[in-house]
Amino acid sequence: MGVLPDTIYYPFCGLVGPKYCDCKAGEGAFREWCRSAAVCHALQEKRRVEIKRAMEFSQIPKHWWKKTMLSFEGQEEIKLAVNRYLDCFQKMQEAGCGMYLWSEGSGRGKTHLLSAVCQEIIRRYAVSCIFMTEEHIFRKIRESFDDPGIGEEARIRQFLTIPCLFIDDFGATKTTAWKNEMMTAILDYRLNHALPTFFTSNFSLPSYESSLQSSSVARPGRITSRIYEMCRGFILEVKGEDFRRKLATPL
Ligand SMILES: Nc1ncnc2c1ncn2[C@@H]1O[C@H](COP(=O)(O)OP(=O)(O)OP(=O)(O)O)[C@@H](O)[C@H]1O
Ligand SMILES: [Mg+2]
Repeated sequence: MGVLPDTIYYPFCGLVGPKYCDCKAGEGAFREWCRSAAVCHALQEKRRVEIKRAMEFSQIPKHWWKKTMLSFEGQEEIKLAVNRYLDCFQKMQEAGCGMYLWSEGSGRGKTHLLSAVCQEIIRRYAVSCIFMTEEHIFRKIRESFDDPGIGEEARIRQFLTIPCLFIDDFGATKTTAWKNEMMTAILDYRLNHALPTFFTSNFSLPSYESSLQSSSVARPGRITSRIYEMCRGFILEVKGEDFRRKLATPL
């Protein structure tokens, strides 16, 4: 029958199963075992645990875990563009292409959409992501200064090298020369290494650049110029009403 009396651990599914003979019957019996309910269930469970771990690693706040593309209402045009991006994500990733979602108003669904994109990339493509607000990123970098043993690049390494970096509320914190320098270093590295970076912001790119100009940061166009290149084709305005107000309206 091709089944041997010993058992063996199969790392691909995390189960102990029968050992199979190298003969044709053994190959058939092994394939049959791979299709069994026990193995399918173990594979599903393994995938579920991997996704949960990747979601926790990404640091998307739990609140956003249930915000998906499906639960995003209306705004068909932007959903179409985002789904187009997700469907050809592998090509986008190779090209280092990310996404910039902006609207001047609040509650339009920028963070909802971007966290849905991040979750889809984790679930469908098993790619490592970090999802943080700009403020949180700067806080993390600042915290690393408590450890004098860490070198300049190591302080920001996780933001440089993560395959996909999601920056929520880009431009929301008060600009300083230090922040500008850090952000330029992160974006410059990611652009040069074709690593997709994603943003939500309350600024369009031209108005972000003007805001840098008025805060007298040196060479204000350096950041926006990089974003234009890294998000080409996916600089999208999120229109619509303030959903938070809508949710607050009594039924
Ligand atoms: N089109 C939508 N469909 C379903 N829920 C939505 C939609 N737009 C917004 N929401 C919900 O409204 C709330 C606010 O949305 P979100 O935080 O994404 O807005 P935002 O544009 O990021 O706002 P801000 O500029 O203040 O950061 C969230 O709970 C979100 O899930
Ligand atoms: Mg937001």
